[in-house]
Amino acid sequence: MSGQIKESNEPSPPSRGTGGILAIESSCDETSAAICRDGNILSNIIAGQKVHEQYGGVVPELASRAHIQNIIPVVDAAVKKAGCNLGDIDAVAFTQSPGLIGSLLVGTQFAKSLALSLNKPLIAVHHMQAHVLANLIDDPRPSFPFLCLTVSGGHTQIVLCESPTKMRVIGETIDDAAGEAFDKSAKLLGLPYPGGPLIDKYAKEGNPKRFQFPEPQIPGLDFSFSGLKTSILYFLQNAGKTHVYKEEFLATEKEKEVFIKENLADLCASIQQRIVSILLNKLKKASIETGIKDICIAGGVSANSGLRKAFEEAGTKYNWNTFIPDFQYCTDNAGMIAITAYFKYLAGEFSDLSTTASARAEW
Ligand code: KG4
Ligand code: ZN
Repeated sequence: MSGQIKESNEPSPPSRGTGGILAIESSCDETSAAICRDGNILSNIIAGQKVHEQYGGVVPELASRAHIQNIIPVVDAAVKKAGCNLGDIDAVAFTQSPGLIGSLLVGTQFAKSLALSLNKPLIAVHHMQAHVLANLIDDPRPSFPFLCLTVSGGHTQIVLCESPTKMRVIGETIDDAAGEAFDKSAKLLGLPYPGGPLIDKYAKEGNPKRFQFPEPQIPGLDFSFSGLKTSILYFLQNAGKTHVYKEEFLATEKEKEVFIKENLADLCASIQQRIVSILLNKLKKASIETGIKDICIAGGVSANSGLRKAFEEAGTKYNWNTFIPDFQYCTDNAGMIAITAYFKYLAGEFSDLSTTASARAEW
């Protein structure tokens, strides 16, 4: 693999190799490091943080502290697995934005210090752009221009990608992200954080048509998930005594608990089916409006088996070429930071030591 994009309309990147790029990701609650050589990911080490489970969500201060503990062993493991040493590194890349500021700062300061001590260039990477470019890590790869539905815990976007360094958001959520919709629904069902993978697991046994949660009518290519969350809340408070999702409280706490327990699989399947239909209906609209048929999904929620299946089915139905990154490159990982840095390296887009982390990011 050369790292070039098959059937691309883009000019070919220079033929010289990039040597090695060490990439670091620390935007939320995963500490990750990867090594990329000539567009090939040689290692992608990811350390999760179990400490947040008991709190029902990521605690920013605890995340920063865990990154500080994890970062050296994770970088060490990535270098060893790639079979190289720090002397082979030609550039140091890191997630600069968006994310939790304390978490980002750990990766940013580490990368800056390492680049300074190795006297190598720094490459700052936009986390959401990296989720999109995760689709360029392995074959088969999309041709430019392509669309990417990026669905994570903090973002839900449709991105039109014209080249590895040129992309724009053409639709996004106006309230909750798709991952939040999964996690908040799971919380209403009494499931621990992060609930997305658990809804996925229980949905496999359930009937997705059993409960019909409403689909919001949002103009254009934007999304909304907060109404779905409210309808689930009211429905559970009524313990299924009415199929009208309104603010009535027809059930006791005990009845609600029993209702959830007896119907967990069908509830998960129905919630998942609705989140997936909201996402795919907008993606279909985006494909019609842009005329683009090379379509990718990316981000943590692209690990969802219901979304992956429905996306492939939509591909067959609408004649799309569909692309989904390997599982390890769906949730937060440094492999996607490394591939993005590879293209920035080829384009000569480097940062200097005055670069700082930023919780929010412009595209
Ligand atoms: O991209 P990501 O790892 O981190 C962010 O940048 O946010 O995404 C995390 C999100 C969480 O909301 C998690 O519940 C969701 O991705 N997620 C899933 C699945 N795996 C992860 N949601 C539904 N089904 C899954 N299998
Ligand atoms: Zn992410």
